[in-house]
Amino acid sequence: MSDGWYKVLDDPEIWKPFFPHVFWVKNKKIVLIKGASQWFAFNDACPHNGASLSRGMCHTDHSITCPLHRYRFSLINGKTISGSACALNLLHLKYDITVFMFLFPELRA
Ligand code: FES
Repeated sequence: MSDGWYKVLDDPEIWKPFFPHVFWVKNKKIVLIKGASQWFAFNDACPHNGASLSRGMCHTDHSITCPLHRYRFSLINGKTISGSACALNLLHLKYDITVFMFLFPELRA
């Protein structure tokens, strides 16, 4: 998409909240999660040992549990809630939900 904006949704109403959805941006596998009132995005690789977080369990307290060693990360600040100290690198994002477009500043060329 032009100017770094990506259309990843056709209809946000069909997107299940607190569920990891996966899509590709510039050869990077990105996880997008619809929270209670905001969206969260991060690379689909656990900071502990690289497991696919999109296969993890997302919780309504805005956290996600890795399927491999069960570390739990906050989607609000990326910090570890349980498990050894490491942090989930959350992507900054802007979105225009009226046209279902997302902008990821870190992924702009
Ligand atoms: S790879 Fe995710 S907790 Fe170890």
